[in-house]
Amino acid sequence: MRKRKWTDDDMLDCESLEELERLYGDQAYFGEVLDGYMDQYAEVFDNYVSKRADVAEFGVHRCASSTYLLRRCANLHSWEISRKHYTAHAALMALAEGRWNLHYGDSRGANLPLVHTLFIDSAHTYDQMEAELDHAHPRVSKYIILHDTTTSWWIGHGHSIGIGPAVRDFLAATPQWKEEERFWPAPGMMVLSRV
Ligand SMILES: C[S@@+](CC[C@H](N)C(=O)[O-])C[C@H]1O[C@@H](n2cnc3c(N)ncnc32)[C@H](O)[C@@H]1O
Repeated sequence: MRKRKWTDDDMLDCESLEELERLYGDQAYFGEVLDGYMDQYAEVFDNYVSKRADVAEFGVHRCASSTYLLRRCANLHSWEISRKHYTAHAALMALAEGRWNLHYGDSRGANLPLVHTLFIDSAHTYDQMEAELDHAHPRVSKYIILHDTTTSWWIGHGHSIGIGPAVRDFLAATPQWKEEERFWPAPGMMVLSRV
């Protein structure tokens, strides 16, 4: 039986981050089955995010990655340009117990604190990825994790050039960073590490 697609309002009934993570994981988030989509967040964040670390995030949308990150880090600093999913943001804020700093603004001008890890999942275009990496990498001490590296590698949002060539150009021009690991199943994630 097809499950009901849940809405941002359903998040207001969640009483813990664990419960919210289960809600995303049950696939009804998408209104259809997308096997392993959220499992990839869990696998990658379990491996690269530390409970004692501060993490930054570009692109919040309905808070799926924010929820998975908040369960695995000390403090999360997120940038999101749109208030469309304000209800989702308010629901997560209530569960985050002061550990979530949400900034409404453009990631390309983010006033980043020094963080251990940065997760990038905003507009998937060459220009956006180039600007975000150039702007943020000096403030990141260990890992930059990229989302949708399989689905948006060659072709990005609006049929633009995808994020892949921007990542390759960044790595070629910035020897302080290297590719650490790539997770291929769609949507795909890539981890860059400071050398
Ligand atoms: C793919 S969604 C993020 C999904 C989210 N990480 C999750 O797991 O649910 C992309 C988000 O990036 C936001 N965004 C796009 N351009 C941005 C920018 N320049 N600065 C900050 N956020 C941006 C969009 O508004 C959208 O909510």
